[in-house]
Amino acid sequence: MCPSILNADRNNLFSEIDRVVSSSDLLHLDVMDNIFVPNFTFSFEESVAIIEASALAVDAHLMIINPDEKAADYARAGASSVTFHFEASSDPHKTIEKIRSAGARAAIAVKPSTPFYLLQELLPDLDMVLIMTVEPGFGGQSFMTEMIPKVESARLALKEIDRDIWLQVDGGISVETIATAAAAGADAFVAGSAVYKAPSPAQMLETLRKLATENSAV
Ligand code: DX5
Ligand code: ZN
Repeated sequence: MCPSILNADRNNLFSEIDRVVSSSDLLHLDVMDNIFVPNFTFSFEESVAIIEASALAVDAHLMIINPDEKAADYARAGASSVTFHFEASSDPHKTIEKIRSAGARAAIAVKPSTPFYLLQELLPDLDMVLIMTVEPGFGGQSFMTEMIPKVESARLALKEIDRDIWLQVDGGISVETIATAAAAGADAFVAGSAVYKAPSPAQMLETLRKLATENSAV
C-alpha cells in the first residue's frame, strides 16, 4: 500500500506521514509542475525535504514536463522509486537507465488515454508500471472502471517477462474499487483521499491491504 499525501494536511505533513508509517510500504509523493498537469504540489526542494524526513521509503510520482532531465535528481535525493510519465518523455529508455543508475527503482506511468501497448518495448527495463485510473492532477476523483481492461492487458504482458515488475494503480482507490483493481492484476496501490479522509488512516490502509490480498490475481 502506498498512501498519497496529496490531500493530507499540508500544515502538518510530517505528522500526517507518521500516521501511516506502520501500515504502508511506500509513501507516494505526487510531484506536479502546473504544466504537465494543471496543479502544483511540491518544488524539488520541498520534495527533497520530504524524502529526507520520511520514515517511509518514497515512491515519487513525477507529473512534470522534461522528466528526462529531472527524474534522476529525485533518485539521487533518495527516493526509492521514481515514476515519470511516458507522455512527457522523449527518451524513456535513457531516463529509466539514469534513474536506476542513481539507485532507485524506475517506473513509467500512462494517463488514461495512453494505450498500454506503447510501453511494450520498455517493459524489460522497468521495475514498475503505473496505470492511472483517473486523469492525473487532482486527488479525490472517481476511479475509471474503463481502465480495468488496460490493467488486465498490462498483467498479461508482464507475465511474459522474467522479472518482478510491479503493476501500480493510482486514482480513486478505495474499499469500493481496490478489489476490482487487484483482481485485474494490480499489485501496488496508491490511495489518497480514501486514506486521509478515514478516521484512522492506518486502519483504512489495513482494510485496503486485506481486500487487495484477498482478491489478488497475482
Ligand atoms: C493524482 C495523483 C494521485 C492522487 C490519488 O494525479 O497521482 O496519487 O493523490 O488520490 P485519490 O486516491 O484521492 O484518487
Ligand atoms: Zn500519484
